[in-house]
Amino acid sequence: MRFETNISKLVGHDGKLSEVWLGPTKQRRGNLPPHVLHHKAEKVHADLVVSATGYLVDPGFAKALPGTAKRRKAPKIAPRRWAASGVTAPPSGPDNRRSAIGGAALDREADLAAARLAFRPRVWVAGDGLTGPATVVEAMAQGREAAQAILTDRPRRPGLEPLGGPRQVLLAYESETGRTKRAGLTLAEYLGGAGAEVRTMHLRDVGIMDLAWADLLVIGTWVEGMVVAGVRPAAGTRAFLKKLPHLAGKKTVLYCTYAVYPGQALDIMRRRFEAAGAKVVGEGHFSRWSLATAPVRFGQELVAKMWPAVTQFEVADRAKALAADGGPDAAAELAWFAGGRQALLRDARAVLRAELRRHPEDEEAHAAARLVVAVLSQDSRVLRSTPAAQSELEGFVR
Ligand SMILES: Cc1cc2nc3c(=O)[nH]c(=O)nc-3n(C[C@H](O)[C@H](O)[C@H](O)COP(=O)(O)O)c2cc1C
Repeated sequence: MRFETNISKLVGHDGKLSEVWLGPTKQRRGNLPPHVLHHKAEKVHADLVVSATGYLVDPGFAKALPGTAKRRKAPKIAPRRWAASGVTAPPSGPDNRRSAIGGAALDREADLAAARLAFRPRVWVAGDGLTGPATVVEAMAQGREAAQAILTDRPRRPGLEPLGGPRQVLLAYESETGRTKRAGLTLAEYLGGAGAEVRTMHLRDVGIMDLAWADLLVIGTWVEGMVVAGVRPAAGTRAFLKKLPHLAGKKTVLYCTYAVYPGQALDIMRRRFEAAGAKVVGEGHFSRWSLATAPVRFGQELVAKMWPAVTQFEVADRAKALAADGGPDAAAELAWFAGGRQALLRDARAVLRAELRRHPEDEEAHAAARLVVAVLSQDSRVLRSTPAAQSELEGFVR
């Protein structure tokens, strides 16, 4: 391994390489290319040269996607995993954040997570385009994260979104005396009832991975101010808002609890989330005296708005269309359409079977029924891996 050297000359016979002359390089300034000092070159025996070439990111890229190719510092909203890895765990944590190695490790983790988040709706950016010049290893790792996120998000052309509604909800609250948390848990109950997987946590525990995981964010805060003047989100929430990563197209619901007057709290939050690219789809403010009823009403409204009723007949029709197209992703598409709700798929299967009893020759219905069964058995493989889901499984696996 030699650093600060470059090839001065290649020597070989009959089309075969035999020696490489390596000269030390000199670079007068960081922004000037290095020169090879040919007169100081030394001979190395070699039969193969692998040449690696560095490129700059096309400047047009940053123009098309403003905000790209910036080296970002690790956000302070470190996922718990980082703490667990020891990089930020006390007592080494604060020091490590400042040390070169700890800082570099955190930056890399932050970049990996950033690659997971859509930069614009249906646009993911990874590698040098996201973070500025770095190593190919980082670019590859980020590329894998972005690819996984695309597979999970299944981006669609506008208007072709799934009817099933959000499937993974992150509900995070900033709560001092527990009211905002209580309101959040009520909302979580309703969203969970609509078929979504809901993770609830305090806002200070939210890491960039949690934001990347969710397809719906529900963020709650208490408010502080001078009763009716200067009322804004609590300090913890404001700190969180400052560190938001890009959240292109991420559906977001905001709520707050207050004593007298919610003031500008939700406006401040909405502006910040929208600046990050999120799509604010609902807002609720609950007086602390109405916590027994207002969050319930808001939860019901959200469910009605975001999880429109999909009938088994619509699922059966979609299964026919997808089976006719015969694309490789038909099963995943159908599962997505049904919002992962097995009961709905089982009902669609019953609809198709009823059709087949009337018209046994109906090829379309046969193909659709096969597709529905494939989705159910695929899901059952996933379910089998969680013991808690065994009883659900028994309900539809014959
Ligand atoms: C320091 C402080 C300042 C507050 N300022 C306001 C205010 O200006 N206006 C208001 O309506 N409520 C104000 N509140 C009330 C809280 O926002 C309200 O009680 C909230 O529901 C508390 O939520 P939590 O139980 O999740 O902490 C204030 C509370 C505290 C502790």
